[in-house]
Amino acid sequence: MSITGYPTYRPRRMRRTANLRAMICENTLTAKDLIYPLFVVPGENIKHEIETLEGNYHWSVDRVLEPVKEAAELGIPAILLFGVPSYKDELGSSAWDMNEPVQQACKVIKENYPDMVIITDVCMCEYTSHGHCGKLDERTTVDNDATLPLLAKVAVSHAQAGADMIAPSNMMDGYVKAIREALDENGFSDIPIMAYAAKFASAYYGPFRAAADSAPSHGDRKGYQEDPANSDEALREVALDIEEGADIVMVKPAMAFMDIIYRVHETFNRPLCVYNVSGEFAMVKAAAKMGWIDEKRIVMETMTGFKRAGAKMIITYHALDVARWLKE
Ligand code: PBG
Ligand code: ZN
Repeated sequence: MSITGYPTYRPRRMRRTANLRAMICENTLTAKDLIYPLFVVPGENIKHEIETLEGNYHWSVDRVLEPVKEAAELGIPAILLFGVPSYKDELGSSAWDMNEPVQQACKVIKENYPDMVIITDVCMCEYTSHGHCGKLDERTTVDNDATLPLLAKVAVSHAQAGADMIAPSNMMDGYVKAIREALDENGFSDIPIMAYAAKFASAYYGPFRAAADSAPSHGDRKGYQEDPANSDEALREVALDIEEGADIVMVKPAMAFMDIIYRVHETFNRPLCVYNVSGEFAMVKAAAKMGWIDEKRIVMETMTGFKRAGAKMIITYHALDVARWLKE
């Protein structure tokens, strides 16, 4: 890009007033860009603040309409459901149990807020007794191909319960294809898949694992999630997921991975979602509480940064606040 220099070109000319700045503004954030994560738990009349995710709560199914109503009134188009199950076992069979919180919540939300897009997380780590994202295997941590049919079963159970979109986060090879085929075979060819395509083995998931009780009891997830040192590999993962039928691809975490967001956007030009994860949220909250940062300005700048990098959708625990601030 060649540019005529100073004093012919003076960038400050177009920054003088708010309206001049608005005229050259390249990226705007709206409530329609946001996806609000929700955690549902067994029991009744529960609204418990999640210690590691200030302002976010564990909801029992009988109260889950409260946050959904709030999101809907603020113009947020979608929620992302995570479940804490009432029982765990080796295989994670509560993940496809129609009586468990996620499936029950899908039903209730669909009945009362038919326009709200219900997205469900498909992974096994919240449901297995060992906390890994699939069926255990001694050599490879998680047995990839034995896990695929389990994931497919979970996805179908979510669709049957009323989910509008499936978001598999497990990082097994071939997971999009397995889920796509299972959805199609069960009459859900219209249900899109939002694939956690570039998901890194990140320390930023710490506060989530406390919230979802999903920390692995032994070892780590480096055998299936990506090495944060790699970006070419992330592009290969995204290509693979698109080939297998992903409708939306995701980059996760977001803030330390802006280059990945940008590369995925430039390379594939597909609907792109970023996950502003729990550790990113927690850092902002902690610093704001100390009075060291201006929370609103920091959060809005970060959200706009995601859009500038190429993201269209943003999953964030700040969603309600952001939507409120946008209305001010
Ligand atoms: C499940 C899952 C995780 C997150 C979303 N889905 C945790 C993990 O992979 O360990 C993290 C979300 C967050 O940190 O906000 N696999
Ligand atoms: Zn998992």
